[in-house]
Amino acid sequence: MDFPVFEFPYLGTRYLIALIAVLHVVINHGAAIGGSLVTVLLERKGFRDGDPRYEALAYRLAAVFFVLTTTVGALSGVGIWFSTMVGQPAAIGSMLRIFFWAWFLEWIVFVVEVALVMVYFLTWRTFQDKRTHLRVGWAYVAASGATMAIITGILGFMLTPGAWHGDHSLWSAFLNPTYLPQLVLRSGLALGLGASLALVLTRWLAPADFQAEASRYLGRFFFAAVPLIALGGMAYLFVLPDAVRGLVPTALVTSRFIPYVQASYAINAVICLALLGFGWQARRRALPIVGRLAAFVALVCLLGQFERVREFARKPYMIPGYMYANGLREADRAKYDRDGILAHARYPDAHPGRAVFKLECASCHTLGGMNDPSVPLKGQSAAAIDPFIASLHEVHPFMPPFMGTAKERRALAEFLASEAR
Ligand code: HEC
Repeated sequence: MDFPVFEFPYLGTRYLIALIAVLHVVINHGAAIGGSLVTVLLERKGFRDGDPRYEALAYRLAAVFFVLTTTVGALSGVGIWFSTMVGQPAAIGSMLRIFFWAWFLEWIVFVVEVALVMVYFLTWRTFQDKRTHLRVGWAYVAASGATMAIITGILGFMLTPGAWHGDHSLWSAFLNPTYLPQLVLRSGLALGLGASLALVLTRWLAPADFQAEASRYLGRFFFAAVPLIALGGMAYLFVLPDAVRGLVPTALVTSRFIPYVQASYAINAVICLALLGFGWQARRRALPIVGRLAAFVALVCLLGQFERVREFARKPYMIPGYMYANGLREADRAKYDRDGILAHARYPDAHPGRAVFKLECASCHTLGGMNDPSVPLKGQSAAAIDPFIASLHEVHPFMPPFMGTAKERRALAEFLASEAR
């Protein structure tokens, strides 16, 4: 209510947020968290065995990961703030209030992480003492893991606020029911992405006579990553409240393919087994680049699928029991129904029907683009659309209830009817 409504053409702001966030999370999990661990372990192996080929590979991987994390990774991190702020300003406002000290800490940890990766990579050749250099590397691994450990608390809260509803404390919000399973799952994904990215890059960054040996070393990471992914994923589903778990099938396969949801669970199990098989094969010989890329893509799909489930299963809410996905708070419903929603809007559109649409529907629907409501409403009159809007949340439980006066609902119905002509 306090902010202008920004409409991103065709895709809508939810896809703007999703595209930037998925790019960020792949770079962050793969190149920063998993990548740093893989690099430091390779460097350590070279140091312990007195084999300079491992260190040479570690250094080259570190160069790629360094560039990726400090450019695309860092910029897309800022991009998440940009997209969520313009797309969901009310939600970001609430998250700032609830997690004030977590954000405070996150920034400091992030600065430390970037400082450490700079020291780790840029001083690689100047460090005389390998042990000290490795210690810097471990500190970088710890800092990048810590950023994930903090953000995971905040992301988990948006699906399962748990005890926070009772005491409104930061710790209850942070240590919410899905925190630990999600952290385990993300750790596995980070490790798998880091190792598969390293395997792909090794194709170009290591000499031909070192390919098989490098592959043997990197293949082992899959035996740690896949169990973490499988256990974390199952534990995650297990701790979800029933209402949320009920939406997981829709999130996984969309409402159209619900009858086939069991198949999608089976496909996930097969992907996990295939990744284990991939790791096993990689330990025996250098696999072709297509196989290495396939492992990376499979992990990106697992990650993307998880993020989609996490986002979708909390609908119609942004923060369950507190704020709806369109940024309106549950507690304000009576107020909006009484005074009208436009009476509380600071930047209303001049056209009342469009204004209501922007405030209540535009976070999930566009006009003329993705999920355009005028398509299913084609040819319907305002008189028919009006009662339908009133029952939206009953017909489709993932949509928030309409808030506002009967006059505003009618204005919205007329606006949609004119769009659907
Ligand atoms: C939380 C996101 C969200 C919000 C907010 C939302 N919707 Fe929807 N709406 C959806 C989704 C998802 C669908 C289903 C799309 C599909 O099945 O392809 C949908 C479907 C619809 C449909 C088609 C229903 C049918 O049975 O064919 C209409 C009409 C509609 N929404 C209108 C609205 C209006 C009007 C508002 C604002 C008052 C609104 N929605 C707010 C997510 C939302």
